[in-house]
Amino acid sequence: MVYLPLILGFSLVAFGYSQDLELQTSISTDYKETTEPVKVTSPITEQLPEKVTEKSIESSIRNALKFLISQRENDWSWRNDTPKVLTALKLLHVYEDVLDDILPSAYELQLSSKQMEIEIVIMLWRHHEIPIAPSQLAEYCLALSALCYDPRQFHGHDLIGTLQHHEAPNDLDFAYLTLAACTARAHVRKKQIRRLLDIANTAKDHNIVAMTILALRCIVMDHRHRNLQHSLRRPSISLARQQQTDGGFGNIYNTALVMQALDDLTELKSYWNKTAAKAYLEGRQDPDGAYTDAGLTSDVLLALIEKGLGVIRLLDCGRHDSDYENNVDIEGLTKSLSAHGNDSEIRNVTVTYTLWIGSNITENCTISITAPRNTSFYTIMQMAMDMDSHFAFEASEWPNGHYVHTLAGYKEEPMGYNYWLLYRLPELPDPSAPPANQLVAPVGVDDLLIEEGDHYLFWYKKL
Ligand SMILES: *[C@@H]1O[C@H](CO)[C@@H](O)[C@H](O)[C@H]1NC(C)=O
Ligand SMILES: *[C@@H]1O[C@H](CO)[C@@H](O)[C@H](O)[C@H]1NC(C)=O
Ligand SMILES: *[C@@H]1O[C@H](CO)[C@@H](O)[C@H](O)[C@H]1NC(C)=O
Ligand SMILES: *[C@@H]1O[C@H](CO)[C@@H](O)[C@H](O)[C@H]1NC(C)=O
Ligand SMILES: *[C@@H]1O[C@H](CO)[C@@H](O)[C@H](O)[C@H]1NC(C)=O
Ligand SMILES: *[C@@H]1O[C@H](CO)[C@@H](O)[C@H](O)[C@H]1NC(C)=O
Repeated sequence: MVYLPLILGFSLVAFGYSQDLELQTSISTDYKETTEPVKVTSPITEQLPEKVTEKSIESSIRNALKFLISQRENDWSWRNDTPKVLTALKLLHVYEDVLDDILPSAYELQLSSKQMEIEIVIMLWRHHEIPIAPSQLAEYCLALSALCYDPRQFHGHDLIGTLQHHEAPNDLDFAYLTLAACTARAHVRKKQIRRLLDIANTAKDHNIVAMTILALRCIVMDHRHRNLQHSLRRPSISLARQQQTDGGFGNIYNTALVMQALDDLTELKSYWNKTAAKAYLEGRQDPDGAYTDAGLTSDVLLALIEKGLGVIRLLDCGRHDSDYENNVDIEGLTKSLSAHGNDSEIRNVTVTYTLWIGSNITENCTISITAPRNTSFYTIMQMAMDMDSHFAFEASEWPNGHYVHTLAGYKEEPMGYNYWLLYRLPELPDPSAPPANQLVAPVGVDDLLIEEGDHYLFWYKKL
């Protein structure tokens, strides 16, 4: 078998890779499709916090909400802040009783969320002219999740897949992106979790640590990652200790984010003073209820109502989260249970497939393909060939599968040591940092089954 030399040559690969493979079971939920209306009537499953009754808090929330409503444009958007504001409005429904007179009605909320969908479509449509900013996409994904839309099925487009294809340029964006993916219940790789833990323990910026804690707290909601709970303690405590004498954590934004990260971690109570942090925020509210602009006002609102970005995953979108949390296996609940790690679940995933020609990468092309999970990479290659003639290939059939010897018109030349090597990568391959040999796929094209977030590369190179 011609694959043998590769398998032998890179036999360590399989071991390195299997670590990630064991966590690759994707989760699916019975989220609504994006074409269904928003459900605005069911707030968070948890009880209202006791603090609701505190007069001053209530009035600062009221004023901030009034400010947000006053900022709404004629097209029902909040310009660049639409996703942030919508997220805050949805979470504010825990205060339905006291805010009923000013909260937007279900129809108003629906108009705004339709406007947001248009914004997302425009962003996707124009991504060749204006590259999508990962953090902006993450913001939209979080808002969609909050509104009970599934960002993995945005009118047939997997926004989380798109999000995870982006290499996170910095730690803050990385944590934010991972939070958005986790909130949508997408698979978070071990490698990503390791990076988060690393950031949580080393970063100095309060907002980076806070965002990382939010992402990790989301991840530990998944029963498979419960064991990480303990590793949150140390970074949380050291973050809590950064509170300054004025009650804040440096500035309004950082304070709001840190409060979201630390809220309801009762074991941290002795390390910081929540009342003082709230007082810090209230003292900085403008007379019209604003915190500078609609975006920051939304961030602060989440802190004041003690329902941060971290609780979006717990929103009741008809998914029986409490049943899931206890992982109880009861007849009739199988649907919600199957939402967690049921491998035989059929759903579409998006992968990219790239060709590189030459050790110096003189030619390249990439295609993105959506197919049901568990499709073989061989099938993906056939789909790619049908979509784009660059991906035409020829393979010989062997008892244990196909061997690809020619791609894009380049045939392997064993005499010249020119071979096609297949890599399975966690990120889109970057010619300026070509993948190491450990990432060569451990099996042949027939046995390689696609998973969300996979990036495949066939590289014609001299060995
Ligand atoms: C927390 O801060 C508030 C307001 O600054 C203050 O009244 C209270 O005594 C503080 N609590 C503790 C335990 O220090
Ligand atoms: C997974 O889901 C399928 C159908 O959705 C079901 O038949 C199967 O029993 C489930 N398996 C487990 C382990 O829950
Ligand atoms: C994936 O596909 C293979 C063969 O196509 C099949 O044997 C296996 O049961 C499938 N696994 C899942 C989880 O669907
Ligand atoms: C997967 O994609 C195909 C076509 O791209 C579509 O027909 C099918 O309905 C999708 N399935 C799911 C579960 O989204
Ligand atoms: C590849 O680049 C190296 C130096 O960067 C050069 O020496 C070599 O000739 C190039 N090979 C080809 C085939 O262009
Ligand atoms: C792919 O090749 C084109 C030229 O053919 C080049 O402009 C582009 O930068 C290359 N893309 C990557 C990712 O290297």
